[in-house]
Amino acid sequence: MDQNKRDNHAKIAKAVYFITLPDRNTVVVQPTTKADPMTSAISTSSSAQAKGDMPVLILSEAEMKTCIDLRQLLDVLAGGFKALSGGKVVNPARPQLDIPQAGYSLAMSAWMAGMHLTVKIVNVFEGNVAKGIPSHLATIHLFDPQTGMPVCVMDGTYITAVRTSGSAVLSVRELARRDAKVATVVGAGVQAGQHLHLLPLVRDFTEIRVVSKEFADAQALAAQHPGVVAVADIEAAVRSSDVVCLATHSYAPVISAEWVRPGTHISSVGVAPPGGELPVELIGRASLFVETRDAFAPTPVGSCELAGIDPKAGIELGDMLLGRRPGRVSADQVTVYKAMGVAMEDMVAADLAYREAVRRGMGRVVAL
Ligand SMILES: NC(=O)c1ccc[n+]([C@@H]2O[C@H](COP(=O)([O-])OP(=O)(O)OC[C@H]3O[C@@H](n4cnc5c(N)ncnc54)[C@H](O)[C@@H]3O)[C@@H](O)[C@H]2O)c1
Repeated sequence: MDQNKRDNHAKIAKAVYFITLPDRNTVVVQPTTKADPMTSAISTSSSAQAKGDMPVLILSEAEMKTCIDLRQLLDVLAGGFKALSGGKVVNPARPQLDIPQAGYSLAMSAWMAGMHLTVKIVNVFEGNVAKGIPSHLATIHLFDPQTGMPVCVMDGTYITAVRTSGSAVLSVRELARRDAKVATVVGAGVQAGQHLHLLPLVRDFTEIRVVSKEFADAQALAAQHPGVVAVADIEAAVRSSDVVCLATHSYAPVISAEWVRPGTHISSVGVAPPGGELPVELIGRASLFVETRDAFAPTPVGSCELAGIDPKAGIELGDMLLGRRPGRVSADQVTVYKAMGVAMEDMVAADLAYREAVRRGMGRVVAL
């Protein structure tokens, strides 16, 4: 990266952010000042920001993978959920564009004070998997919240995987029993793989299992994660687990509610309208946690498994983290976290990656 442009990005990052990381009782990111920090940073090199020579930092997937510390990710997500439930995040409903017989595209935008205006475009093309391409492909765009000028374009595919599984594993951190020892991940794709990276960070599990539709897939994934065991019998695995993480694209429930023993925490990130992987009967006997009340809206905003359920039945993760609503209150309570994905998660993950990339001088600057 050209040194002047690199310095400019570092200056912007320094001016905009004052980060308070892992204190779980405070919102993560606060603006440094009520004045216009971005503009004042830019004003030192206004000619470089003029249209025709607008420097934009480009970050590749490989760079993103080295820029996000997974423990920090869990903490910034926790802060983001608190900000979301505290009404501090602008997070409008996502529009969906359908391409018949091919896939769909979602535009997800979010902003809160201290952050860039963040927009993710995520394209979901299930047929990609057969072509050796991930089913979810995304880019994330950061814009100056004072002027709307583009600041950074980064790969969003990795963030989509890691912020989704990160939110699910945050729910494990906050809602699973403290003495949880056995976890089962259902599914052997992108999301399942990220769950396997994250789960060991939140509990001292004695056994982490992976089970999938095809046993060979579970075996292949387990082989990439030392200590993880591939199992074939999903019912036996769920019946003997303290934590069950569903991460499949199944249109129908992948487990039976009857298999879930008291005290278990279940998370579910699958999105497969018009159905879904989570058995609805389980919700009737569990405490239900969601990202926001939008989870009860029709798709593409909400979760199919929650259709027709009274939104009052759900507790926002952020309300629980803020201490406004209870989390786990007994050892035999079943807790469920159902995710549909919110733009706040992309925003805080992208912010973490951007600041780290600027700190390390990573990426390339192009003029738009
Ligand atoms: N909530 C969110 O924010 C969010 C974000 C990204 C992806 N997703 C969703 O998460 C799901 C998984 O995404 P991915 O990228 O890992 O997909 P993927 O295609 O890489 O993997 C899906 C896995 O599920 C397995 N599977 C399918 N049906 C199964 C069944 N009945 N029993 C056991 N395993 C089964 C498949 O064999 C595969 O291993 C998708 O529905 C995706 O749309 C959600």
